[in-house]
Amino acid sequence: MFENRCYCGELTLKDIDKEITIAGWVDRKRDLGGIIFLEVRDVSGIIQTVFDSSESEENAKIADSTRSEFVILVKGTVRKRSDDTVNPNVPNGDIEITAKEIKILNKSAVPPFAIDSRDNLNEEVRLKYRFLDLRREEMQTAMIMRHKLMQKTREYLSAHRFLEIETPVLNKSTPEGARDFLVPSRINRGEFYALPQSPQLFKQILMISGYDRYFQIVKCFRDEDLRNDRQPEFTQVDMELSFVTADMVMNIIEDLLKVAVKEVIGKEIDYKFPVMEYDEAMSRYGTDAPDTRFGLELKECSDIFANSEFKVFSSALANGGIVKGIAVEDEGRLSRKITDDYTEYVKRYGAKGFPMFRYKDGNFEGGISKFISEDEKKKIIERFELTNPAILFFSVDSAKIVNSTLANMRLKIARDLDMIDSDKLNFLWVVNFPLLEYDDEDKRFYAVHHPFTSPLPEHLGMLENLTKESGSKIKAQAYDVVLNGSEIGGGSIRISDPELQAKIFNILGISEEEAKMKFSFLLDALEYGAPPHGGLALGLDRIMMLLLKRNSIRDVIAFPKTQKGQCLMSQAPSPVSEDQLKELSIRIRTNAK
Ligand code: AMO
Repeated sequence: MFENRCYCGELTLKDIDKEITIAGWVDRKRDLGGIIFLEVRDVSGIIQTVFDSSESEENAKIADSTRSEFVILVKGTVRKRSDDTVNPNVPNGDIEITAKEIKILNKSAVPPFAIDSRDNLNEEVRLKYRFLDLRREEMQTAMIMRHKLMQKTREYLSAHRFLEIETPVLNKSTPEGARDFLVPSRINRGEFYALPQSPQLFKQILMISGYDRYFQIVKCFRDEDLRNDRQPEFTQVDMELSFVTADMVMNIIEDLLKVAVKEVIGKEIDYKFPVMEYDEAMSRYGTDAPDTRFGLELKECSDIFANSEFKVFSSALANGGIVKGIAVEDEGRLSRKITDDYTEYVKRYGAKGFPMFRYKDGNFEGGISKFISEDEKKKIIERFELTNPAILFFSVDSAKIVNSTLANMRLKIARDLDMIDSDKLNFLWVVNFPLLEYDDEDKRFYAVHHPFTSPLPEHLGMLENLTKESGSKIKAQAYDVVLNGSEIGGGSIRISDPELQAKIFNILGISEEEAKMKFSFLLDALEYGAPPHGGLALGLDRIMMLLLKRNSIRDVIAFPKTQKGQCLMSQAPSPVSEDQLKELSIRIRTNAK
């Protein structure tokens, strides 16, 4: 019955007069007095089928008895539509199928939303009925493109001598900085596996084992606060290579990304990805993942305002804070109401305010302009290269708050003023990240990337006699790839010398005992001839989201979790039976909720 089934969306004018069979779901039904039209949908698209009661009353009756989402099989002949019935809005709009046979394969309950709905559907309903949501064209496109991206990635990497090797899902914790998802072991009472935050340790082991190019398209699990570009389980294209420098890794990834973008969305990336030092990114954009599709760069102004009459500036500067600003060319679109709103808005980034003034024809007006001296004025005009009517916004606080406030406000203002060209794909490498980050509360260093990241060779000497200040200046052989302001991948050259690794653990306050407990297998392996190696992991879901211009990572994942980490369709997570818990020797604390 299903032999020689054709795909609805693949039938074209070339198939005129062919006898064909299609099977799929009823997308729409129309009754034109004795003639029933059923639009039938499958994974490839939609085709119109026609049931004329004057030819077969029986078939027309069956067709008429169907409803949306019934599953049917239709046999018939492809024919050209008459000129007045051609639908130019759909790909198959010039042909239809004159039905000779129809069979209802299954019925459907009335769906909670129309599959062809163009309205903004409620996401909770979509996620609860994901099996229906996935029938929608938008989701089909995402799934098909995602498949293509994975397929092309595999093809590319295989052609470049990478071997796809699977690493365990049930294992020990990997130190990527998030919380682990734990899995209790029944056989080993009281012991737990951790789901991998990434295959980091295993891929390094594979290098030591001599597989000099590894990749894996792999699920990673991180128990962290969720955002629109984060999921608790997500997919990495994970890679590791031996006998490479950072440049070599970056060149391969760049080429892979160019090939993938071309194959998946047909866009040619005809430029070499710019490379920016981490320090420069922080200084110019306030973030390590800058969106370079628009300007609004941050300018350091601490030197200008050192003796400012505006006490908020001068006293913060005297206490070790900084002042940075952005200038927005504006003829008046940013009204007083909007700039007042911004003053409230910045509080979410820890800022206490968002001082501003306007610039026009050589003069400063409004806001804090009355506190600005002639000398400061001159320097500001020069620093921001002001020539147009503009608004200048400033942030004053610790470097961390200033950078975060301005990085976020830069984006918000660009969006509010429609300054971002959404067709652009701006790739960027950010390199030489700090190796260590000092935590004032815990009074210790943490690894910025992970503890296996190698310092820049010329910074090795700085590992001696570390202070908070000197430690923060050490740079790592670590690189991120950024697309339109999102980090889509990160990696580094690793430490292959066991002595250096021990030293780094020491600096990170990881005792020998703790290191042995957590990563003894890697430390053991490092003793047996580790090649110099490095790698990177790409966030496949994020890449997909950006290439398809979706607002949420959930729109490119078949069965995603909500912001609360729940699957609304399967109702995971859910309580388990008392017996299951008993078997695992687990008791739930009654006040846990
Ligand atoms: P990193 O932690 O930077 O590096 O992760 C690599 C990339 O994975 C994506 N990503 C995520 N995507 C969706 N949801 C999440 N929760 C999430 N977390 C990360 C990002 C990120 O750039 N082992 C190292 C790689 C290496 O050093 O080779 C690692 O995992 O796009």
